[in-house]
Amino acid sequence: MGKTITVIPGDGIGPEVTSATLEILGAAGADLDYDEQVAGLAGLEVHKNPLPETTLESIRRNGVCLKGPLTTPVGTGFRSINVAIRKEFDLYANVRPALSMIPGGRYEDVDLVLIRENTEGLYVGVEHYIGLGGDPRAAAESVMIITRFGAERIVRYAFDYARTNGRKKVTLAHKANILKYTQGLFLDVGREVAKEYEGQIEFEDRIIDATAMQLVVDPHQFDVLVMENMFGDILSDLMAGLVGGLGLAPAGNIGKDASMFEAVHGSAPDIAGQGVANPSSLALSAAMLLDHIGQAEPATRIRNAIRKTLQTPETRTRDAGGTAGTAEYTRAVLANLE
Ligand code: NAI
Ligand code: MG
Repeated sequence: MGKTITVIPGDGIGPEVTSATLEILGAAGADLDYDEQVAGLAGLEVHKNPLPETTLESIRRNGVCLKGPLTTPVGTGFRSINVAIRKEFDLYANVRPALSMIPGGRYEDVDLVLIRENTEGLYVGVEHYIGLGGDPRAAAESVMIITRFGAERIVRYAFDYARTNGRKKVTLAHKANILKYTQGLFLDVGREVAKEYEGQIEFEDRIIDATAMQLVVDPHQFDVLVMENMFGDILSDLMAGLVGGLGLAPAGNIGKDASMFEAVHGSAPDIAGQGVANPSSLALSAAMLLDHIGQAEPATRIRNAIRKTLQTPETRTRDAGGTAGTAEYTRAVLANLE
């Protein structure tokens, strides 16, 4: 029996890209069993709860989850389920690879991984207005929180990731020149952790704004990058842009006891149910999941097949400049599995 994982097909195009992904996983020889659960709008329909307890229990039990996109309705009560799952399981490391997949992009052969701190920094949500002279919103203040604990575990995750995945260098990007306390602590802790990997993994630190420019000018100088929450949010999208956009980008959210792998795009209500969605992002996330649980062979097989399928415009989906539908594209990926 294979490893059981929780699968949340999600909303909108979620079910379409999920069933394509499960087909690809099966054909690639992934040794997995699926415990299918609902969340988001589907959760609301079935259990009157966008994040049902049964779904949380399943993730707790299986420790690994593959999640399709979830719709966050605008104007109704519930908060982003993605954020809620990250919080519930303390998924502190957001892993965003940027790998060239499609020819004719800005660069060939980009192969970077950004490790973003997922729980603290400026995104802790400690914010308030300050009233002045009769204006209740004369000013606003957000607090950036960096803890030694949080900084240490994310930098250690980046180094361990580099070591496990045969990578050579970790770049810590920061703004310690201006934010001497918060970013200074992040950098200091990073330097301490780096010492433990001396002789195995190279380490450098860079100022965040210069890193952004250097990523655009010459991405090949980087390997693994690690940074605080908001910087990582911004630069991970920048890096997706280097290799063809968010449509192909996978992501993993990793904690000590659980992990969740998800497509970076949303539920695409504009094309839901039309059979034209591109399943690559979720399939590549599934490949990350396989790597994470020690099934590297089917993971590599999936990545290679997707790359091969994207070489010719005929087999690409519309969003990637082709004419194929989800089923046609998936068949081409299956045919390219080696
Ligand atoms: P979106 O990513 O769903 O769509 C943006 C555009 O990209 C649309 O034109 C869509 O058709 C296209 N697109 C996205 N994924 C595609 C795919 N796999 N194949 C082909 N085309 C694709 O972003 P949008 O419209 O801002 O959000 C829609 C819903 O998704 C919202 O409720 C939002 O809250 C949610 N969302 C959920 C995310 C998640 O679960 N991780 C992430 C982003 C948004
Ligand atoms: Mg973002």
